[in-house]
Amino acid sequence: MSAISACRYCLFWILALPLYTCQGVPVICFYSKDCILPCSYNPGTDVVIHWQIGAKVVHSFYNGNDQLKQQEEQYKYRTSLFKDELQKGNASLLLRNLQIDDEQSYHCYVGTFEGSYDTYIELKVASPVTYVQIETNETENTEEIECRSSDIYPAPSVTWSYPTNESYKEFTNSSTDVNKLYSVVSKLTKEGMKKNTNVHNYSCKIKTWQSQWETTLTRQEQKIEEGQEWNVYCMLPNVGPQNCKLAWKTSNTNTVTAKFEKSKQPKKTSEFPNNILLRDDHFHVPKVTETDNGTYTCSCTYGEVTKVCQIKLKVIPDGLHPKLSYLLQTKYVFCNDVTLSPLLRLLLTKTWNHY
Ligand SMILES: *[C@@H]1O[C@H](CO)[C@@H](O)[C@H](O)[C@H]1NC(C)=O
Ligand SMILES: *[C@@H]1O[C@H](CO)[C@@H](O)[C@H](O)[C@H]1NC(C)=O
Ligand SMILES: *[C@@H]1O[C@H](CO)[C@@H](O)[C@H](O)[C@H]1NC(C)=O
Ligand SMILES: *[C@@H]1O[C@H](CO)[C@@H](O)[C@H](O)[C@H]1NC(C)=O
Ligand SMILES: *[C@@H]1O[C@H](CO)[C@@H](O)[C@H](O)[C@H]1NC(C)=O
Ligand SMILES: *[C@@H]1O[C@H](CO)[C@@H](O)[C@H](O)[C@H]1NC(C)=O
Repeated sequence: MSAISACRYCLFWILALPLYTCQGVPVICFYSKDCILPCSYNPGTDVVIHWQIGAKVVHSFYNGNDQLKQQEEQYKYRTSLFKDELQKGNASLLLRNLQIDDEQSYHCYVGTFEGSYDTYIELKVASPVTYVQIETNETENTEEIECRSSDIYPAPSVTWSYPTNESYKEFTNSSTDVNKLYSVVSKLTKEGMKKNTNVHNYSCKIKTWQSQWETTLTRQEQKIEEGQEWNVYCMLPNVGPQNCKLAWKTSNTNTVTAKFEKSKQPKKTSEFPNNILLRDDHFHVPKVTETDNGTYTCSCTYGEVTKVCQIKLKVIPDGLHPKLSYLLQTKYVFCNDVTLSPLLRLLLTKTWNHY
């Protein structure tokens, strides 16, 4: 940024806004990473460089050397100039291990025998949202879904979506840690839960102006009679051609990760208790027993999205509900099977039976 273009920038702001302050060039850098604050001048002799925030010295250079006696404590050992670039008119400052407090307006002054140059930089620090964890908790008559994330800057906002005809209450609490990074916890609660086997979709999106992450949860309750065969499919809505890392979890917290490749034949990757076979995208339970009771969760992360599919299995003791068992003879159970046509499902079933 030459002095001339920096001034043009200031002029633009002065004309655009009725303000007589000089707005700097915006620069975005990431928390804990290195950051280069750009500053250029026309090469000359007897170079003097002062990087400052108001009157506070961030970095100085004259008499051919760094002059750091007046340097502010918070910048100690974190700044340097590119010495090889100086004769090319490049007075950019390298600021290492960026902190939230580094979000400031910087002034780069360069004086040479031939002239002087001023550049203003408006540094914005960002710490992107890198995950949103979702957890569920059910008691007798309340249903609670909690999402959380941490190490975010600036302050994030939380947006929920849930079945609109149900009355949920939202409660969000955010706090900052010693490094001024935000943690956020948001709870969705519903009183008077009605047990049903409908598919329910939820999503929690946590965002800042600079980044966002969305986790969606598809929940379903399934009833299977003891002794029946059960296949649990991790059918994640709108998972495109991207492959994702798929993780299966049962309520007894065994976690197995498998690479999820939609186009490939499922193959056995790991074994679970009770003869449960985990294949790439589904569970196979040859004979359901009462101990298989529990919650089965699969999740998949790609891009800035996590998709979670949760199936709550209720095992019906053998012989208690002959009529219900007749109704529940479906052997292949899909979580969110809306995405598959009956024909495709039949084909898939055939393929997997051959396996
Ligand atoms: C100044 O030097 C830094 C470090 O090599 C480089 O990243 C930057 O692009 C240079 N700026 C100019 C205007 O050449
Ligand atoms: C689940 O919710 C109940 C009632 O609000 C609470 O007492 C319990 O600690 C919660 N459990 C977990 C694991 O959060
Ligand atoms: C909400 O809508 C779903 C599907 O339309 C329905 O199954 C469910 O019973 C409804 N819930 C309430 C509380 O009305
Ligand atoms: C919000 O979270 C902070 C930190 O976890 C906690 O100290 C505070 O009590 C919470 N506030 C509410 C209203 O729950
Ligand atoms: C849940 O989400 C999937 C995919 O986004 C959609 O196809 C399905 O209709 C949704 N189900 C309900 C009950 O909203
Ligand atoms: C299975 O779950 C149902 C409902 O949560 C419960 O009533 C039953 O006792 C459970 N059975 C076992 C063996 O844990």
